[in-house]
Amino acid sequence: MLRRLHKDQPAAFAFTPANMEWAQGQISKYPAGRQASAIIPLLFRAQEQEGWLSRPAIEYVADMLGLAYIRALEVATFYFMFQLQPVGTVAHIQICGTTSCMICGAEELIAVCKELISAHPHTPSADGKFSWEEVECLGACANAPMAQIGKDYYEDLSPAKLRELIARFSNGEVPVPGSQIGRYSSEPLNGLTALKEFESGRTQYNASVQLATDIGDTVKRIDGTEVPILTPWRAKPALAEPAVADEAPAAAAGGIAAPLAEVLTAAKPELAEPVAEGVKPALLSAPRDGKADDLRVLEGIGPKIEALCHELGIYHFDQIAAFTEAEVAWVDANLKSFKGRVVRDKWVAQAKIIVEQGMEEFLRRAKTNDY
Ligand code: FES
Repeated sequence: MLRRLHKDQPAAFAFTPANMEWAQGQISKYPAGRQASAIIPLLFRAQEQEGWLSRPAIEYVADMLGLAYIRALEVATFYFMFQLQPVGTVAHIQICGTTSCMICGAEELIAVCKELISAHPHTPSADGKFSWEEVECLGACANAPMAQIGKDYYEDLSPAKLRELIARFSNGEVPVPGSQIGRYSSEPLNGLTALKEFESGRTQYNASVQLATDIGDTVKRIDGTEVPILTPWRAKPALAEPAVADEAPAAAAGGIAAPLAEVLTAAKPELAEPVAEGVKPALLSAPRDGKADDLRVLEGIGPKIEALCHELGIYHFDQIAAFTEAEVAWVDANLKSFKGRVVRDKWVAQAKIIVEQGMEEFLRRAKTNDY
């Protein structure tokens, strides 16, 4: 399926404060320099907050992680779990159309969606409340046909049951997920034939349904206040002290990536004068011939850092390749919230390969970070 960004995009995106704190916790799970590994949880939380992934949301997450936008776009457009278009305000319904479910009636369920929601998938209903799509096997084949509605599975469905579920969601209810014909889990339709001794002591719902009903956020837009943020290794969220995060290198700010510190301190005035540390390299007032090199080719340089380089007067690979140790110290000290990136990401070594051996060789070696 061709996955493109939606034609209508919001002007901006920002995590709620609680979601931002949660995002910091996710980022802190990874070692310094590897914060990009948090991309999927952060994109997914952005989707949980808004219902879908807009371009501003994808770029916001890329900025937090110091990634080129294209890297985040690659992830967002690859996985079909990321919704790239607005979904229903009440629920997005994912009908499993794979073998077991198809044999057991998925096509009839899709017909209900076409009738009650929209003739086409990924298109909100006229009242905006619902949207639907057909997805591949969701792993509940023993309880086919089934659908994921919001976060949870509704199993053993029939067209009548699906109609009823949609009506109840529409009225503001959140029906109990799990089997809709009274099965406890995935035991035979006629009841247990083995391990019957466990039948008497079981709880009202199986563990999955119990957890879903306990949490109760099946179709809720997640603002981060729903459950405690479990990152006890973090002494203190950077959110509480943004000024500290701005001064600290990435690894010292509780493991938070420097780009995140920049997002958190976006409103803070930047230093007006360059920091007097190291030796100022030869800088340019404008790119030569009016055309700067694409510095984002270098590992670790995203749009924000490239803009900072331009502010400082760095436009070309040969400038970076020629930095002395003292000049690296000056640039590193003047990268504001990205301090230390020149050394950490080996800009000089990377740029030297481009200047001395050409872009083709650099791209070959970049695949294995061989700088
Ligand atoms: S085939 Fe539908 S859940 Fe596996």
